[in-house]
Amino acid sequence: MSHISDSPVERVTIPVLQRWKGEGRRAVMTTAYDAVTARIADPIVDIILVGDSVGNVCLGFDNTLPVSMAMMNHHLEAVARTKPRALLVADMPFLSFHLSPEETIRNAGGFLQRGADAVKLEGGAKRAEIVRALVDCEIPVMGHLGLTPQSVNVMGGFKVQGRNADNALRLLDDAHCLQEAGCFALVLEGIPAELAARATNSLTIPTIGIGAGPSCSGQVLVFHDVLGLTESHRPKFVRTYVEGFLLLQEALSRWAADVRTGTFPTPQESYRLPEGLSDAIANWAPSNPT
Ligand code: KIV
Repeated sequence: MSHISDSPVERVTIPVLQRWKGEGRRAVMTTAYDAVTARIADPIVDIILVGDSVGNVCLGFDNTLPVSMAMMNHHLEAVARTKPRALLVADMPFLSFHLSPEETIRNAGGFLQRGADAVKLEGGAKRAEIVRALVDCEIPVMGHLGLTPQSVNVMGGFKVQGRNADNALRLLDDAHCLQEAGCFALVLEGIPAELAARATNSLTIPTIGIGAGPSCSGQVLVFHDVLGLTESHRPKFVRTYVEGFLLLQEALSRWAADVRTGTFPTPQESYRLPEGLSDAIANWAPSNPT
C-alpha cells in the first residue's frame, strides 16, 4: 500500500501557502540537494528547499559559510531538472546578498532563471531593504530568523535564540519588519515555542518552524535528518523516522559479501552471446603472440 496517496497533488504556489495559513493547514518543507532526493521528497512535501545546509550535509564542511553561489547553482539545477510540484525555494548563501543590491538581485534572479520559485535569506531588520529590492524585481523572498546558521560566529555557536527579553522582542520586531518588507513566509529556527507561537499568531504570513515548537504554520527538517542519513549528533528537535545510514550500509555490505563469495552476479544478472558466437570466442587466439 502506498503512503503517498493522501499527499497534495496541486502545484504548490505562494498564494496556495498563504491560503493554507488561513485554513490552519500546516505546510511541510524539507531539503533536497540533487535529483534523487528531490524525486523522493516531491510527492510528499509542499516545499523543497535547496538549503545551504548542502555544505555540512553533503559537502563535508563544518558549517554553511564556505558554500558559494556556484555550489548552490549546481545543486539547484539538479533539483530543478526534476520539475517538482512542490514550491522550490533556493537558499542565498553567505556573502551572496550582503555586498550590493545589484549583485544580490543578479544572484537571486539567477536562481529563478534556474527554476527556483523563490529565494530564502537569513537575517532580520537589517535585511529589510534588500528584501524590498528583491520583491520589487518580482523575486519572492522567504525570511529566516532565530538561530541563523550563517551567524554562527556572532552567536558563538549553534545556540537557541530569543531566550532573553531583548532578543525575544527583537525577533518579533524583525519578523514584522520582514513581513512589511514583502517576505511571503518566514523560517523560525531554534527559538522557544512560545516565542514562535507569538510571532505566528501576530503575522499574516506563514511561519515554518525548525526547533521552534508546534505552533508554526508549517515545519521544516533537513531530509538527511528525517531519514537518518547523517552520522553526526542530531539536535533534540530532529525526529528521525528511519536509520537510513545503517540500513543502507547493511544493504551495501550484503552486496559486497555476495561479490566476495562469487554469488553476484548470477546468470540471470549477466548478458549472453548470441547462438554460434560462443565457439568463435572460445577458439580465438591472439594474432601476434608475444
Ligand atoms: O539550509 C537549510 O537547510 C535551512 C533549513 C534548515 C531551514 O536553512
